[in-house]
Amino acid sequence: MQTSKTQSTVSFDFGGRTVLVTGAGRGVGEEIARLFHASHARVAVSDVDAEAARRVAHALDDSGVTAIPLALDVRRKEAFEDARDRITKAWGQTDIVVNNAGYAKRTPVHDITPEEFDDIVAINMRSVFLSCQVFSEHMRANGYGRIVNVTSLAGQNGGTVASAHYAGAKAGAIMLSKYFAQQLAGTGVTVNAISPGPIATAKGRLSEEQVARIEKLVPIGRFAEASEMAAAVALLASDQGGFFVGATLDLNGGLFMR
Ligand SMILES: NC(=O)c1ccc[n+]([C@@H]2O[C@H](COP(=O)([O-])OP(=O)(O)OC[C@H]3O[C@@H](n4cnc5c(N)ncnc54)[C@H](O)[C@@H]3O)[C@@H](O)[C@H]2O)c1
Repeated sequence: MQTSKTQSTVSFDFGGRTVLVTGAGRGVGEEIARLFHASHARVAVSDVDAEAARRVAHALDDSGVTAIPLALDVRRKEAFEDARDRITKAWGQTDIVVNNAGYAKRTPVHDITPEEFDDIVAINMRSVFLSCQVFSEHMRANGYGRIVNVTSLAGQNGGTVASAHYAGAKAGAIMLSKYFAQQLAGTGVTVNAISPGPIATAKGRLSEEQVARIEKLVPIGRFAEASEMAAAVALLASDQGGFFVGATLDLNGGLFMR
């Protein structure tokens, strides 16, 4: 194959690294867990749906040596502490955390109850705070770490079909990424965010009309693939990604340029 002089290849090797991925029982989180595992990391596959986490972890390695399932509800601080302790016991330390779990409810703004508001914020924003709080101390003590927070275009410009609590919570997750990045700068630990537009994993939750409308809206004419999300996470989580500090990486097909 002919290659031009400017062409280069990037391949990630996470050999020796340990990774915790939240919301990894399906969708983008599952794809992220698969990419890390295929790139030689040991992966803790966590989800509030324990059976889904088990299914994915076993598909990666049913011996449990390089992949373990964890039941982890991101609304609970103790769940993050348990995960940290379980991974430390199994593999010594956690090097990389991907806060991917999220949940969107498309409730019209005037119908959002205070309870629903709090729950959406707990899943999409407070989770990032709790995870960063628990793992930043752990990673600082180890002198190395990468935290990647999956946020959303909704947190930057309101998104395409998002509602108020989800958009507000994702905006908060972007700010928390910067806050912790600043606190940890120079310690060997980086914190960054990825801000995706529509991802193919959402298609099943949208009507045909909504899918068509979104495809028309996105300048490149399609949804992102989960594999494109995983590749972006890998970049921020890699050793080579150490100069990304408090960045928000836009992955939106041109929907929002800044
Ligand atoms: N799909 C999109 O178009 C899109 C766009 C922008 C941002 N995002 C964000 O990307 C991430 C992944 O999206 P997806 O499409 O794969 O979602 P998904 O709904 O397919 O998967 C989310 C996973 O998170 C888990 N989860 C839900 N609540 C949880 C909790 N309290 N604790 C732990 N796990 C929990 C679910 O069980 C599920 O396995 C989310 O943070 C989402 O907000 C998605």
